Amino acid sequence: MIALGADHGGYELKEAIKKHLEHRGIEYVDCGTYSHESVDYAPIAQKTCEKVTSGKCEKAILCCGTGIGISMAANKVKGIRAACCSDYFSAKYTRLHNDANALCMGGRVVGTGLAMELVDVFLDTEFEGGRHQRRVDQITAIENSK
Ligand code: RB5
Repeated sequence: MIALGADHGGYELKEAIKKHLEHRGIEYVDCGTYSHESVDYAPIAQKTCEKVTSGKCEKAILCCGTGIGISMAANKVKGIRAACCSDYFSAKYTRLHNDANALCMGGRVVGTGLAMELVDVFLDTEFEGGRHQRRVDQITAIENSK
């Protein structure tokens, strides 16, 4: 199960991702927004990411205009490692090396075709572990020191 969230800047991209996931037979929960009307991205990031930290969803995909604001908000949710990506290599390696559990994209940055490639590689790539586990643990240690 994948958690989806977007503000108005990412709304259309989220809708395209829903169709793509349906085509792939992947279940999702849509945490909004549900129209083009202007909304704030931080509460949507929190609601969407909490689907992951609660265990209901394996990963989150978040969209705003740039992908940046919603990724900043997502990374404030304990247990979330969100990566804002607009290229294939980053979307792949943030899974391999960072065990990212949230992919963020900008609806005003990436085209639909590229975005679906990013979604696919993000969902289909496993974390490598090994030395990268130590580094992810160090990120978690910073989070836990607050
Ligand atoms: C909304 O206009 C826009 O600021 C938002 O979608 C996002 O790009 C923020 O980072």
